[in-house]
Formats: sequence, C-alpha cells, structure tokens
Amino acid sequence: MLSALKMGGVVYAALVLNNFYGRRQALFELNDYFSFMAATIIFIALPLSYTYWTFVLLKKISGRTLRIIEAGENLFFVGLFWAVVMLTGAGDSRAKAIFLFVIITSTIQLGMGFGIFTAALSSAALIIIDIFHQPAAGAVNVRFEDDIAMITLFFAVASSLGYYVRANAIHIKGLVERINVDWLTGLLNHRSFHTDLSFRFEQFTKGKAPLALALLDIDYFKQYNDMFGHPKGDEVLKGVGNTLREYQTGLVTPYRYGGDEFALIMAGMDNAQIGHFTSELRRVFSEMEFEGEEFLSAKKLTVSVGVAVADDYTDSAAELLKYADDALYKSKFNDRNRIEFYSSALEWLKDDIERQQGHLIPTIKTLAGIINAKDKYTYGHMEKVVLYAKLLARELDLDAVETRRLILGAYVHDIGKLNISEAILVKKTPLETHEWEALKQHPVHGEQIIRPIPALREAAGVVLHHHERFDGRGYPDGLLGHQIPYLARVMAVVDSFDAMTTERPYKRRLSFDEAIIELKSNAGTQFDPRAVSAFLRALKNHRRYLSHIESGDYAGEPLNGLEGEIADE
Ligand SMILES: [Fe+2]
Repeated sequence: MLSALKMGGVVYAALVLNNFYGRRQALFELNDYFSFMAATIIFIALPLSYTYWTFVLLKKISGRTLRIIEAGENLFFVGLFWAVVMLTGAGDSRAKAIFLFVIITSTIQLGMGFGIFTAALSSAALIIIDIFHQPAAGAVNVRFEDDIAMITLFFAVASSLGYYVRANAIHIKGLVERINVDWLTGLLNHRSFHTDLSFRFEQFTKGKAPLALALLDIDYFKQYNDMFGHPKGDEVLKGVGNTLREYQTGLVTPYRYGGDEFALIMAGMDNAQIGHFTSELRRVFSEMEFEGEEFLSAKKLTVSVGVAVADDYTDSAAELLKYADDALYKSKFNDRNRIEFYSSALEWLKDDIERQQGHLIPTIKTLAGIINAKDKYTYGHMEKVVLYAKLLARELDLDAVETRRLILGAYVHDIGKLNISEAILVKKTPLETHEWEALKQHPVHGEQIIRPIPALREAAGVVLHHHERFDGRGYPDGLLGHQIPYLARVMAVVDSFDAMTTERPYKRRLSFDEAIIELKSNAGTQFDPRAVSAFLRALKNHRRYLSHIESGDYAGEPLNGLEGEIADE
C-alpha cells in the first residue's frame, strides 16, 4: 500500500512536470524522439525499477537496517519532490502538495516522530523557496499565505496520522502479548516456549551458543490447590513466576510451560554457569514461603527441577525437551525438591564402548530404527517396556548393576525380531504353526545379536529368557520357576503387560484394569508371583504418570531418550 503511495507520488510528479513543460516550454531543447524517451523513462522504467526495489530488494532486509533504508528512501523523496517543485515554477508551482505523499508514507513507516520531521523538512523547503523566489519588487507575496496553510496541513497530517499509527502499534503489541504471554504469571507462555526452543536449538546446531533447558514443577501443587482452592494456588504460581522473572537475562528466559510447570531456556551458558545458576534457583525456592504450606503432607511447597544440556547426541529440540522431562521425572521420583541433571549419552557405557566397540549408541539407534521400519508395534513397545522396567526396578529395590541390566534388556529384548520376516511381524491374522515357531526363535536370535557386544552382553540372559513361563511351558528352553534368570522373569511381566495393553491388528487392547486382572490370574503359572505383585505396586504408585499410556495416546515415538533411559537408573 505504501509502495503504491510512493509510486503514486512519482507518477504525480511526472504528470506535473509533463503538464508544466507541455504547456509552456521544453525542459531542455528536446526533439520528439528525446521527449518520447523521457516519457518512457518516467512512466515505465522508473515505476518498474521502483517496483523491483521495493518488492524484491527490500524484502530481503529486515530490522534496523530496513528502518535506516526506509528513512533514507523517504528523505530521498523529500529531495525529489523539492526538485519537482523547483522545476515546475518554484514559488509559483502548483505541485507543492506533493510533499503530502512522503509525509504520509514516512509517518506510517517510521512513526509520528519521523513523520513530523519529514513535515518540518518539507515546510522548510517551501519557506526557503519563498525566501529565495520573491516576486518582483513591490508586489505582495500572496503565495506565502497559501504556503502557511500548506505547512499547517503538513503538520496536521503527520500528527493525526502519527497518532493513529502509534495507537495501532500499541494495539498490535497488546495482541502479540496476548498470544505469547501467560496472563496469570506474566511470563512467556507454552507457545512462545516452543517457538523459542526451536530457534535456540537451530542456533545451537550452527555452533552459535550452548543450549540447556530446565523444567520446573511445583511439588504437591495439586494437594495445595485441593486444600486452599484455586485462587490461592494461582498466588503460588504467580509467586514462582515472579521469582523466575527476576532471573530473566540475555542468557536465561523463563516460561510458564503449563499447569504447575515452568521452563527455563538457557542459551550461551557453559556447564559451570548452568550448575551455579540452578543451585542458586534451588536455594531461592527452598527459602520461598507460601501461605498454609505447613499443612501439606510434606510441610513445604517445593519445586523439582530437571535440566538437560544439548550435546552432539541431541538430534532435535523435541529430544532435548524429552531429556529435560526425563530428568524432571527423575527428580520427582527421587523424593522431589531437588534438581536432577539429565545424564547424557550412556555416560557409563561410553568409555567402555569407545575402547572396545566404537560407537554403540548409534548402533542401538540404528537397530531400533530398523525394527521400527519392520514393525511399528515393537518400537513403541520397546520404549514402554523400558519405562515399566524402570518403575519395577525401583519397586524391587534392584541394585545399580541389576537395574542397568534390566533396562538394557528392556531395550534390546525383542531385537531378535530383526531376523524374523516382516510378513510374520506385520501379519494381520493369527499366525500359522510354522510362522509361530519362527517367531518363537526371536529370543535366540536376540541373544546371538547382542552376545558379541561387550556392553550389551550382560543383558543376554534377559533377552534369551524373556518368554519363559514360570510353570515351565515357555520358550525357547522351557525353563521352570527359579531356573529362569530372575530379571528375565521380571521382564516377562512387563513385556506381557504391554503386549496386553497395546492394540494389535488381530487383538483388542485390554484396559490397565483388565490387564491387571489377567496378570493376577496368571501369577504362579505364567508369571513369577513376586514379580507380578511388585509390578502391580509400581503401577499403582505411578498410575497418574502412566496415564498417557493408559489412555492409549502413546504412539511409539522415536527412541530419542535412549541414552537417558539407560543412564537413568
Ligand atoms: Fe519378545
């Protein structure tokens, strides 16, 4: 619109010049050919070049540079129009109103201040012309009165239009704030968080700035809300929001992530700074006081924090978020009121692997990717089994070595399906006997695949025996009761629970409650009763956390949390 206005100004100038010289005399001694060429340039070439300038070149520029160029362009137009006035009779020119074009565009583009500045320049141009182009001695300078009216008009246009532009800018700013800011805490909201995180991650991958993410969750917030009502709960959220806002710097940006969760994006901080900053946060939150918190079961409102630092293994912003979320869950899991760092990339495995096996992490990722390509079900299944295994390991109070073995086993328990034909894996009808026999070989194949990998070897027993039954009727070896390795018995429970609660092409998924009944009735026959009761306790304790799986929303996501899940014992 503005460009059209400027172009209108140019064309108007051309018309004025044309009329003026058409009526009176040629600008120079032009013959017809040159007149034609001059008209062509004015009416075709100039608008075309201006179109290119404004729609192609200027579109590539933004921010401060664009504003400087726009200011320069407007000043150029003041000069151009001044020349037009001079060429069309100076003081007698009838084209003085042409300055209105540039006053309007500069006000709209750069605001009231610059608009008034342009009006002042244009007015000065008129006054200077009046001073230097006085009428013959003795005659009254009638043009001066007209010019004063014109100048008044210039300022009236710049100020009234400027006022409108300013009001509009405030309105737009308000709208943008409504979209991006959380009304309760005044922090940036969930939407801004995702936009900013993607941007920061892109910067990180370009090597511009280190990136870390913290997720904060207020412990026992639901209990507080239930006890004191939502208005009091909102006060707590505001308090936490205000505290976080105090830490907003160029390096740290706080967000309200949703509900009682907050997020902090830390860009450009090294690990030492992040460590220092998060311990400072922990101190501040532990010193905060909230009305009535002493009535809570924990006697204190606290926050749990999960921190993840992006590294070479972090593939996407979503992956970083998942890491932080894992760390947050770990923090909640470990009695809350603490800060957990996501320990990246199989730290405990890395040294071992780098010495012996090269890069195991990409290997496991690749294997998982291949399984995913073959059988979607197995992929999502693997992640859920890992999750259940983690919960169960804690419930059973397994030591670090056993926990690691169980979780590794959970990751790779079905890896032998790589050797099973896709036709069997994705078959939508019940399997034929020979197909079933082939499928039953997957624990053996799995054990053979991981046996040569030292870092995975310890999970071999879990992989080989995860389909044994407590009553000896399982496969591949038909081991009975305590002959079956303990962790394989544990794995059998979580594996079956997920199989039962997952939709398959030929089988309806059971609800959690139905699957629990099923586990109970098979305890002692198919399953080790001790493992079943421990798993049921774990389920009961973490039912809320598992609600996304229970509701069936959980789709097999890429195995992004691989390193963390294993390290996260
Ligand atoms: Fe299996």
